[in-house]
Amino acid sequence: MIPVSLVQGSYVVAGLLFILSLAGLNKHESARAGNRFGIIGMALALVITVAAAAMGTKATTGEVSITAKGSGWIGLAIMLAAMAIGAGIGIAKARKVEMTGMPELIAMLHSFVGLAAVLVGWNSWYTGGTHDKVHNAEVFIGVFVGAVTFTGSLVAYGKLSGKLKSRPVMLPAHNAINGGILVAFSVMTVVFVYQPIRPLLIVMTVLALLLGWHLVSAIGGGDMPVVVSMLNSYSGWAAAAAGFMLSNDLLIITGALVGSSGAYLSWIMCKAMNRSFLSVIAGGFGSDGNVVGQARDYGEHTEINAVAVADLLRNASSVVITPGYGMAVAQAQYPVADLTSKLRAQGVNVRFGIHPVAGRLPGHMNVLLAEAKVPYDIVLEMDEINDDLPETDVVLVIGANDTVNPAAIDEPDSPIAGMPVLHAWEAKDVVVFKRSMATGYAGVQNPLFFKENTKMLFGDAKERVEDIIRAL
Ligand code: TAP
Repeated sequence: MIPVSLVQGSYVVAGLLFILSLAGLNKHESARAGNRFGIIGMALALVITVAAAAMGTKATTGEVSITAKGSGWIGLAIMLAAMAIGAGIGIAKARKVEMTGMPELIAMLHSFVGLAAVLVGWNSWYTGGTHDKVHNAEVFIGVFVGAVTFTGSLVAYGKLSGKLKSRPVMLPAHNAINGGILVAFSVMTVVFVYQPIRPLLIVMTVLALLLGWHLVSAIGGGDMPVVVSMLNSYSGWAAAAAGFMLSNDLLIITGALVGSSGAYLSWIMCKAMNRSFLSVIAGGFGSDGNVVGQARDYGEHTEINAVAVADLLRNASSVVITPGYGMAVAQAQYPVADLTSKLRAQGVNVRFGIHPVAGRLPGHMNVLLAEAKVPYDIVLEMDEINDDLPETDVVLVIGANDTVNPAAIDEPDSPIAGMPVLHAWEAKDVVVFKRSMATGYAGVQNPLFFKENTKMLFGDAKERVEDIIRAL
């Protein structure tokens, strides 16, 4: 038997380590230490939870001694076997996943948390014995949040992996459907607290599964970043709800940490995209499926080759690099880092301008550049670099598209209208690295490509950057 005080003490330490981990992940410099805190906290939490579940716990309050029977050696063996299988699949998947596949993997993992909360809720209702009112509310709300997270994350997985179209599915009266389900859920929660009958739990689970699917289906390509962080937040609340149902304090703490940090991240993302949080949740923003701008005549684009770009760079005194999703696809961060140090050695002032939703997950570009050892102090955020662009000689747009699209400012009917973008076109010369004239994630044509001071350098970004390095 393990003393309850040891279990609770370990949970407090693990909770503190998770908070330190989040604090560490806030900055490039401390991110590794943050990860280490998280790993130690999770290892401690796992060991103590499994030990307590297998060996049982005992507590003494005054004269009264309370013991909880553990599941014994067979229970321990089953738990360890399940963990080994899960860890095996997790390690194999994590080793194989490309950086570009991370967002969909994360969405898939969120769906598991949602499903776990649904299963814990149903199990806790069946095996809970006395159905007291607080427990009924915990089960009902926990299953609801879990089910919304489950289907919402599956749709997000489909959209991010390209298995589902990223354009919004807009059912007629979609707001009324969402509102109706929320009202029905509120009424059913009150009824379930007093009358915990199975049909109510079944109907609510089905409605919540539908709501999750409907909410995320209605969100357009350009707004997917907010959805990913919103689902991250939901998965945290689903875990916290499971913690209440299982009376596990650590799960409540961890779930609340994930839930609140995910909500905060969603708010930051909304600010970056100039969207109101509620309008994104209500759905229907982003691409409407029509490739806007293709019908417009932006004129002709001009091509350039690597040797001519090398000439431009040789004569430049300031260069800004704005990377996007294409840099991740091409894995061009290493040659980009080489090019940066070459130019800096020649006295060129090279800096990076990072859009908050460049790539496919928050901080995507920062991670890639850190991996290639680009110094942190020359990696600036969009708001820090935008004012300097008119005085910049050359902007290299490496695999970015939506994040440098002036239509967001100039075309009020554009699906990305209002989204703040990097003002690359204000520089003296702009070179765009991409393979074709295809649109970016939001499916919107980019008038930047047709501007007089823009030159298109076609081909794989990694190969083209290597060509430039050779020409330099
Ligand atoms: P995008 O608008 O997605 O454009 C990427 C560009 O890279 C494409 O136009 C593509 O053109 C080019 N490309 C692809 N592979 C390439 C390669 N091997 N070499 C050279 N170019 C290549 O990128 P962005 O500017 O980073 O914008 C991000 C978009 O994703 C935004 O709409 C954002 O809302 C959305 N999104 C972001 C997130 C987060 S959290 N960051 C999550 C989900 C969605 P070609 O095909 O012609 O080469």
